[in-house]
Amino acid sequence: MTQAEPRASRNGIVQTLTRALAAVVNPVTGKDVVAGGQVSDVAVDSSGNATFVFALQRGDPGNLVRQARAAARAVDGVSTVKVNVQLPQSAPSAASSADTAVPAPSAGARPSPRPGRAPAAPPAPSRGLQPGSVPAPTPRPGILAGVRRVVAVSSGKGGVGKSMVATNLAAYAASQGLATGLLDADIYGPNIPTMFGEGRRPSVTGAKGSEMIVPLEAHGVRLMSLGFLLEREQPAIMRGPLIAGILKQFMEQVSWGRLDLMVVDMPPGTGDAQLSLVQTVDLDGALMVTTPQKVATGDVRRGVKMFERVNTRILGIVENMCGFQVPGSTEVIDLFGRGGGEDLARELSVPFLGRIPLDIEVRRAGDAGQPTVVAAPGSPAGISLAAIGGRFLADLKKLPARV
Ligand SMILES: Nc1ncnc2c1ncn2[C@@H]1O[C@H](COP(=O)(O)OP(=O)(O)OP(=O)(O)O)[C@@H](O)[C@H]1O
Ligand SMILES: [Mg+2]
Repeated sequence: MTQAEPRASRNGIVQTLTRALAAVVNPVTGKDVVAGGQVSDVAVDSSGNATFVFALQRGDPGNLVRQARAAARAVDGVSTVKVNVQLPQSAPSAASSADTAVPAPSAGARPSPRPGRAPAAPPAPSRGLQPGSVPAPTPRPGILAGVRRVVAVSSGKGGVGKSMVATNLAAYAASQGLATGLLDADIYGPNIPTMFGEGRRPSVTGAKGSEMIVPLEAHGVRLMSLGFLLEREQPAIMRGPLIAGILKQFMEQVSWGRLDLMVVDMPPGTGDAQLSLVQTVDLDGALMVTTPQKVATGDVRRGVKMFERVNTRILGIVENMCGFQVPGSTEVIDLFGRGGGEDLARELSVPFLGRIPLDIEVRRAGDAGQPTVVAAPGSPAGISLAAIGGRFLADLKKLPARV
């Protein structure tokens, strides 16, 4: 009977696990995710490894799977949790191409029922302020219509390496054959021109009245930054509405052409630029950069929450400036600590994409106007950045493309 007992207790864990999952309510449908048919194939093996399938529906909040995973993890006897996330089907009608950006839809978007299912959702609340939320983003359909995926690199904290990561992710994606664009959304302190060694002014094409700015291209990446348009060293003095206007113009009046990926380098903080972006375009998600120490991870946690409140998926956390290898020695100094980004990713149940050491090659490459993955691919940071890029692109492939 030694065989039967563990199976019986495992059945018990499956029941407890299913009950725990049933405590997670989908705020869109008002039903718990088990009764709503979103969870299936719940199983736990003899080592406590739990698995289940989670069928995301259009309009689901970005943190729903995470809540389910956290609920499963809290069950006694469960040691690991693997969720097989099924993404919603793309809308069948050609007219709704902008809708295919789900599962990171706007908070105000009405969920469409999955094909073959009875509509489960009660009438969606009207647009506008929602409890504990910011005004629902209303991205314009058709904006960046030729771009398959749009991803923001953000943080909450300044100086943690957002622009460096955005630069290298874009350059890495281009090196893998993807048509890639990089939009510098840091209106106050645009760094992308320096990081790509570009000082030219972009040209303008098109007839009078419908002119388009031609993005510059460096290291295979199409670039747009306010830095290309301002006089050198001229400060950009702007407030919220202007930022929104510039971001929109950079999307609508720049001839990006067809892109597989657009990376958006965000300014520090969780303010106007972040909200403007999610209100302007349906983002596939945000990648968060942090340094390992508490003061940074605290800010990044707030940044994650802000994106979640506007239903933007967090694609992962990158820990930067983690460990400094003393040149000519094997000694590694953890100047800013170690593991803070990974701990945060675990706490928030978002993917941890990897860590990048403090590396003099990053500074050298940056000063030389080159991405590290191009200038120093064999350096410790170059190797980490390429590995993070690979992981990131692989994860991104699993999401439905915008077009
Ligand atoms: N891993 C690293 N090793 C060495 N230097 C680094 C590393 N990461 C970033 N830096 C350097 O730190 C500085 C800040 O990086 P970066 O400009 O990318 O940060 P940021 O988060 O975009 O800053 P801001 O909030 O001002 O936009 C840059 O000079 C960059 O070259
Ligand atoms: Mg920056």
